[in-house]
Amino acid sequence: DTAAAPDLLLGRIRDIPDFPRPGVLFKDITPLLNDPAALAAAVAGLAAPFRGAGVDHVVGLEARGFIFGAPVALELGAGFVPARKAGKLPASVIGQPYDLEYGTATVEIHADAVSPGSRVLIVDDVLATGGTGRAAVDLVRKAGGTVVGFSVLMELTALPGREKLSDVEPHALLAV
Ligand code: PRP
Repeated sequence: DTAAAPDLLLGRIRDIPDFPRPGVLFKDITPLLNDPAALAAAVAGLAAPFRGAGVDHVVGLEARGFIFGAPVALELGAGFVPARKAGKLPASVIGQPYDLEYGTATVEIHADAVSPGSRVLIVDDVLATGGTGRAAVDLVRKAGGTVVGFSVLMELTALPGREKLSDVEPHALLAV
């Protein structure tokens, strides 16, 4: 019953003030992960719009995108590809740098993980500034994949993530 899902999910996300730094209100999803009904609803909701979309690979973004990405891949009959921070993957990689508040970071996938022409769904927990998602989309395209969507548990509407990903029209289960 998807109508019940937003309240079920919202009620399991905990606000933690001043984490990881003073002034930041952190959205903690661990109570949602620890509730079987909420976890199932989240995974089903992330996958639902992309059933029948011919998804070949789900790319999950480190670290919380791994938690949702793998079960979404199972639901869609797709493979799972971890997109990791620089230096974590053991084989040959392709990477995409992106800007952080201070400095830059790089997201990487294995060079052979996404076959050219394959259809890719990107999954993460949060869309905030959109920097991570933008880098992931560009990385999948660099690998020759077609991005069929970007599915997130929640988007932070005070931040411009959605505009930054307007070409993929992110699917968010919750807007907070
Ligand atoms: C968080 C979150 C997203 C990203 C969203 O990950 O899980 O991946 O930030 O922010 P953005 O839209 O501003 O790019 P984080 O970088 O904290 O990594 P972690 O999951 O490994 O802690």
